[in-house]
Amino acid sequence: MSRLIAPPLSLYLHFPWCVRKCPYCDFNSYTLQGDLQESGYLDTLERDIASQAPEVAGREIVSVFMGGGTPSLFPPAAIARTLDMARKHLAFAGDVEVTMEANPGTIERGRFAEYRAAGINRVSLGAQSFDAGTLTALGRIHSPDETRRAAEELHAAGLTNFNLDLMYALPGQDVAAALSDVEAAIALKPTHLSHYQLTLEPGTVFAAQPPEGLPTDDMADEILTACGARLAEAGFAQYEVSAYAQPGRQCRHNLNYWNFGDYLGAGAGAHGKITLADGDHRSANSGAIIRTTQTRDPRRYMASPVPTRTPVPEAQRPFEFMLNALRLVEGFEVETFTERTGLPWDLVARKVEKLVDQQLLEVQGSRLLATMVGLRFLNNLLLSFLDETPQTTGGFGLSTAI
Ligand SMILES: C[S@@+](CC[C@H](N)C(=O)[O-])C[C@H]1O[C@@H](n2cnc3c(N)ncnc32)[C@H](O)[C@@H]1O
Ligand code: SF4
Repeated sequence: MSRLIAPPLSLYLHFPWCVRKCPYCDFNSYTLQGDLQESGYLDTLERDIASQAPEVAGREIVSVFMGGGTPSLFPPAAIARTLDMARKHLAFAGDVEVTMEANPGTIERGRFAEYRAAGINRVSLGAQSFDAGTLTALGRIHSPDETRRAAEELHAAGLTNFNLDLMYALPGQDVAAALSDVEAAIALKPTHLSHYQLTLEPGTVFAAQPPEGLPTDDMADEILTACGARLAEAGFAQYEVSAYAQPGRQCRHNLNYWNFGDYLGAGAGAHGKITLADGDHRSANSGAIIRTTQTRDPRRYMASPVPTRTPVPEAQRPFEFMLNALRLVEGFEVETFTERTGLPWDLVARKVEKLVDQQLLEVQGSRLLATMVGLRFLNNLLLSFLDETPQTTGGFGLSTAI
């Protein structure tokens, strides 16, 4: 029998303001004008969480991710208040992972120790590059030295479990320059590295006016291969399309997204996904997967923090599951497909066999994963699962916080 089972549950909290909007960024983030509306925003977050909490009563939060925007614009006392408030409405697991994104340009001396005391136990630092000219071209507010100082502060504060975000295929970048960024990142001893190819996102300044000197696709491929090899040599194993980690240091929060887990999303523009398990007698909607979306504009959000709720039709679930799970280098346990979509494996078995024949997917014991070629052409491969979704109307945004 195919039964929908409630998967692990995470919490995503969105902080929408930045010192300055970067020209490549299409996240729901806004240049801060005037004062940070700290207490008004935190009050709204509390209303938002409190209104969503009853639906996940009795379930433990395994990870929290404070993303943005720039959460580190909020002082440690505000982060402490946010976590205390979340704990009041939700049950945190004893070993909960609590990550906060930080921009190196917002970190004053001693601040990370205070964030740690507030309850943060993992940090994701937006380094992007260690080349001063490139950082300027990207509109970043910090220098390479400020990133180095922020990493030193993290170690001094005992927040040694931290990620560095790097981008590649940057203006004027060749393999040597990209490798030198990776080398500089490794030297700061992070436990995790996210390596994103710069993409020109519609609606951004870069999409309207692309920077000069962008590498060709072939060059971007060469950079990816060379940087991946260097990271592997330094002990960072790739476990997802853009994520590399030291042993045991994968980001639990993002892993839960990619394993089609659940997450409560609060804050301006935050997304959530909640499974109402089959046979859950508390809910009239048992057997449903609900996606929630909050109002993007911070002022409108603060006026009315009521998320819209959209059920994921059964026909769309195989594509959504594969979209996430096939990003993982180790793929997924086949039985989780049924547990997390509520659908029988038979529905996709023939399609999967065909992709295995084409050497785009492979079976390893009880797991299914994309081959090296499959990972490279993941988007094309995923289109095969769209056939299951005749009534889909588009908008398959990746359900990740990154
Ligand atoms: C929400 S931001 C991170 C935190 C913080 N706001 C910062 O920038 O330092 C998430 C990450 O996504 C990556 N990113 C954003 N826009 C991107 C784009 N157009 N192409 C590739 N990576 C991008 C950057 O590496 C960025 O650090
Ligand atoms: S990349 Fe980070 S700092 Fe820059 S605008 Fe986006 S969220 Fe803000």
